[in-house]
Amino acid sequence: MKKRDFVKEKFSRVTRRYDLVNTLGSLGRDASWRKKAAAELREYAGPLLDLCAGTMALSLELIRQRPRTVVALDLTPEMLFYGIFRHRGSPYFPFLRPVCGDAEDLPFPAHTFYGATMAFGLRNLSRPKKGLHEIYRVLKPGGKLAILEFSRPKNPLFAPIYRFYLFRYMPLLGGWLTGDAEAYRYLARSIYEFPAPEVVLAWMEESGFSSLRAQSLTLGVVTIYTGVKP
Ligand SMILES: C[S@@+](CC[C@H](N)C(=O)[O-])C[C@H]1O[C@@H](n2cnc3c(N)ncnc32)[C@H](O)[C@@H]1O
Repeated sequence: MKKRDFVKEKFSRVTRRYDLVNTLGSLGRDASWRKKAAAELREYAGPLLDLCAGTMALSLELIRQRPRTVVALDLTPEMLFYGIFRHRGSPYFPFLRPVCGDAEDLPFPAHTFYGATMAFGLRNLSRPKKGLHEIYRVLKPGGKLAILEFSRPKNPLFAPIYRFYLFRYMPLLGGWLTGDAEAYRYLARSIYEFPAPEVVLAWMEESGFSSLRAQSLTLGVVTIYTGVKP
């Protein structure tokens, strides 16, 4: 099965418990990671694009920090529908524009958005570099990209504990709550197979981004990457 179809199928199966497993699995850290990523774009008043938006938790956080239009794009309609169902009562909901689409082939003209975000999405793309090129294309000059993605802790004491947690505990927790342990084995594999932060920054540079920065959070469990389209 192609990676794109595999990923879509996995996310359509875990949709209803996706947010809960995230919160339990990250010991409640996921909301603060998204807050920090969203803060990177607080200065931008114009429309933003949140890619691989899932149930739109980051999209809503962007609006909460500064009300403005946020286009929330995801490949899996079930994730977007569930997000709409969950957030429909929020005062920030009217600013959301959910779009079902592929981050590697964006359905928007060049120079459309003031900023873009992608939380836990880059690792899931079949062609991450294509995704970065597409983001660069649709950003306006001066537009900023903020990517939040899992990375691997370097601390020699914490690294083996985290590895055990990810490969043993997460499939148990995720399997129990969603009925799909394989989706959480994929999570662990995809985190360990994903390139190091230096490589991600090099990809961003290749795509044309400048003012590059990688901020490591929670002992290196996640990294926020930022870059600006000159
Ligand atoms: C781990 S979830 C992250 C969701 C959300 N950003 C969050 O912070 O919880 C990854 C999302 O990426 C989406 N996705 C995977 N490949 C994609 C693609 N090529 N284009 C758009 N979305 C994609 C999946 O459907 C899934 O909803």
